[in-house]
Amino acid sequence: MPLSTRKREVLHQMGIPIWVPRQRSPAQDPLIERATDVPAAPPQEPAAGVTVAQIPVAQMDWADLGARVASCTACAELAQRRTQTVFGVGDPKASWLFIGEAPGSEEDRRGEPFVGRAGRLLDNMLAALGLRRGEDVYIANVLKCRPPGNRDPLPAEAAACRAFLDRQIDLIQPSVMVALGRVAAQSLLRSDAPLGRLRGREHGFRGVPLVVTYHPAYLLRSPADKAGAWSDLLLARSRALRG
Ligand code: URA
Repeated sequence: MPLSTRKREVLHQMGIPIWVPRQRSPAQDPLIERATDVPAAPPQEPAAGVTVAQIPVAQMDWADLGARVASCTACAELAQRRTQTVFGVGDPKASWLFIGEAPGSEEDRRGEPFVGRAGRLLDNMLAALGLRRGEDVYIANVLKCRPPGNRDPLPAEAAACRAFLDRQIDLIQPSVMVALGRVAAQSLLRSDAPLGRLRGREHGFRGVPLVVTYHPAYLLRSPADKAGAWSDLLLARSRALRG
């Protein structure tokens, strides 16, 4: 009988190895239909005996993804110094997905993105759009752990965390994504262009329109740029309404 996700996770946490059946790929087995011949199969429970640690991130459901993030030690320094991982928060089927760079100290303490001063400004930006945190809105970060001293995420850290964010995006399937600040925008778009060149137009990311705007923490320091942020949000809204 297949083990439940919870039991698999408990066994994994206890370090108990479980036998994993080897998968045969379509190329190896002519009886397996090619993906192009058949509609995508609905998500399935992993085969009996497959631990959470062994499920590819790209195939995880929310529960497995959350468990994998919570136990991630890919970045030793971040894993050692964090209070907890900060997975993301909101409506799992949201039209809007906002992505910041990484948790700060308050987020690290509370386990939720954007709960400090910058978060309160983000909530006001949402309110201006007629949105509320958690209602048709999901908020996540490029990194799920706080970088010490609030330094920028290292490229290797962003790369190690990338599959988690990609899976969140694929599970949510938002109508529009908003990258908050230079670090999130450059990381998502794999670009080193300055923020000024990334703002003001629509990008695409995993098939989803992506709009870049200022980070709320920057707007707290430079309120004159709030008008520019508002025009970015209006661009994003036009994409959300289209989707
Ligand atoms: N800044 C971010 O980029 N993300 C947070 O969650 C908090 C502050």
